[in-house]
Amino acid sequence: MSPWTGTVALITGASSGLGRQLAGELGRRGARVGLLARREAELAEAAREVEAAGGRALPLPADVGDVAAVRAATARLHEAFGPVDLLVVNAGVGGSGPVERIDPERHAKVIRTNLLGAIHAVGCVLPSMLQRRSGKIVAVSSLAGWRGLPGTAAYSASKAALSTYFESLRVDLRSHGIRVTVVDPGFIDTPMTAGRSGLPLLVPVDVAARRILRAAERGAPTLAFPWPLALSLRLVRLLPARLYDPLAARAAWFAFQPAGGRPRSRPNP
Ligand SMILES: NC(=O)c1ccc[n+]([C@@H]2O[C@H](COP(=O)([O-])OP(=O)(O)OC[C@H]3O[C@@H](n4cnc5c(N)ncnc54)[C@H](OP(=O)(O)O)[C@@H]3O)[C@@H](O)[C@H]2O)c1
Repeated sequence: MSPWTGTVALITGASSGLGRQLAGELGRRGARVGLLARREAELAEAAREVEAAGGRALPLPADVGDVAAVRAATARLHEAFGPVDLLVVNAGVGGSGPVERIDPERHAKVIRTNLLGAIHAVGCVLPSMLQRRSGKIVAVSSLAGWRGLPGTAAYSASKAALSTYFESLRVDLRSHGIRVTVVDPGFIDTPMTAGRSGLPLLVPVDVAARRILRAAERGAPTLAFPWPLALSLRLVRLLPARLYDPLAARAAWFAFQPAGGRPRSRPNP
């Protein structure tokens, strides 16, 4: 029998990509899964997949940026299946582009979803975990949070803050019997990366989901993958800004050339 059999899990961002795959994997292991995201039709499909795999599912349409909606969704799940044993904080939006096209509203949305959405979800679930002195929390962050990557200021910042936030919680929650795993993936083959070419070491979504569940099962404090990309980023992290900045600017210059358009001026070295 799987350790997840009978587990009550809440997954944010369960309507597509990694969250939906995690839901299916948990369903296959006999878990009862609350699926939270905004798109109702996709949630209903994801719920059918979980049930077809052998689990039970409850679609919870909500926007993670709306704390009242997340609280109501958590209460519905509690009523239907009982208290949450596993919270997967996964809802996220990407965002990249040249600095000339910075859009404050778009950046605010990235921070609201990726960081505040995670804070809302954990804040709604934690009281019952603390009361029961047990539970697991998985925070899906990103290797993009390990350094301020070019062209992704809001996304990198949201993931750096997310990792730090959950690292603090991990330390605080140790003595309360609650395990926190901070996951930093590289590129995963999901709708978020669809249509982007040349992504290095793209990981299939089912491989990523299984790795994450294994780490959560062990109560691992962190998981970063694929390892060659994680190792490269670890080394990049050690570079002083004087070396990092011109190298990263050069990479951004190549990444954001308009296809077939007038080339942007070369960055100063
Ligand atoms: N794919 C990658 O290469 C990669 C790499 C590192 C980290 N990650 C992280 O992995 C997580 C999952 O991403 P993915 O690749 O699976 O992308 P995805 O397929 O686009 O899935 C994103 C999920 O987040 C949900 N979501 C977005 N905004 C939301 C909101 N305001 N409220 C509730 N749910 C919301 C979406 O559902 P609705 O639109 O239905 O709301 C969807 O279910 C993200 O946190 C992402 O940053 C991805």
